[in-house]
Amino acid sequence: MEVDSRLINKLKEAEKIVFFTGAGISAESGIPTFRGEDGIWNKLSPEELANFNAFMRNPKLVWEWYQYRKNIIHNSKPNAGHYAMVEFEKYFPSVTVITQNVDNLHKRAGSKIVYELHGNIERNFCIKCKKRYDTELEFLDGIPKCDCGGMIRPDVVWFGEYLPADQLKNSELATISSDVFFVVGTSAVVYPAAGLVYTARQYGSFIVEVNTETTEVSKICDVNFQGKAGEILPRILDKLKKIKY
Ligand code: OAD
Repeated sequence: MEVDSRLINKLKEAEKIVFFTGAGISAESGIPTFRGEDGIWNKLSPEELANFNAFMRNPKLVWEWYQYRKNIIHNSKPNAGHYAMVEFEKYFPSVTVITQNVDNLHKRAGSKIVYELHGNIERNFCIKCKKRYDTELEFLDGIPKCDCGGMIRPDVVWFGEYLPADQLKNSELATISSDVFFVVGTSAVVYPAAGLVYTARQYGSFIVEVNTETTEVSKICDVNFQGKAGEILPRILDKLKKIKY
């Protein structure tokens, strides 16, 4: 893989870097993606598992699914792609990660600024009084309950729900001011998150896609790397080390 000379030139002058990530960045950590060959949504329906009405209809089933995913996440580790993003912090004054993932792996890898557009599977809250529960939950009949009697749900964004306003606002600001905007491991089909790529385009960032496949936004990117994030990002980092020192 040749690292594009236009990218190298941009990185030489860049100060503000954004990594916008999706499930593909965690694929090499063993966490299944949503779409594509082995995607979760090929086997399960978002209507039954990832929306509030589904939770009210069958909280036990939704919790079983989240416990199953949490288990996979707890047994996984950040990969070379996550760690490469952390290393970028040595070379640029501003590095921001904007993620659609709920798996917490960017923070576990050590990234300092991480905006989570779809929540975080490690957090929970009561649907009645909104009290937060971020430690181990107790399950009675398969459903964790709050002191007030309300049901506790995972603090993730389900279909039809708003994104956390502060995380979205901060993500937009970081995107607008970015010099280089990396789009890593996302199919870029879920909005409003995917809209950030168009914002980056509108505000003149240099957009670099890293994905194993072509996506909805491939055409509006300046450079497309086809391959695994865990292999490509470390290679870009190697080049960066040579030009920055
Ligand atoms: P998707 O599953 O839609 O897309 C994953 C992308 O990662 C695909 O484009 C793959 O080609 C790519 N990919 C797979 N392995 C890769 C690798 N090793 N390196 C680089 N790319 C790789 O996941 P998202 O785009 O994150 O929302 O999905 C967006 C949202 O849809 C999720 O946040 C979730 C889901 O429904 C909610 O739960 C609200």
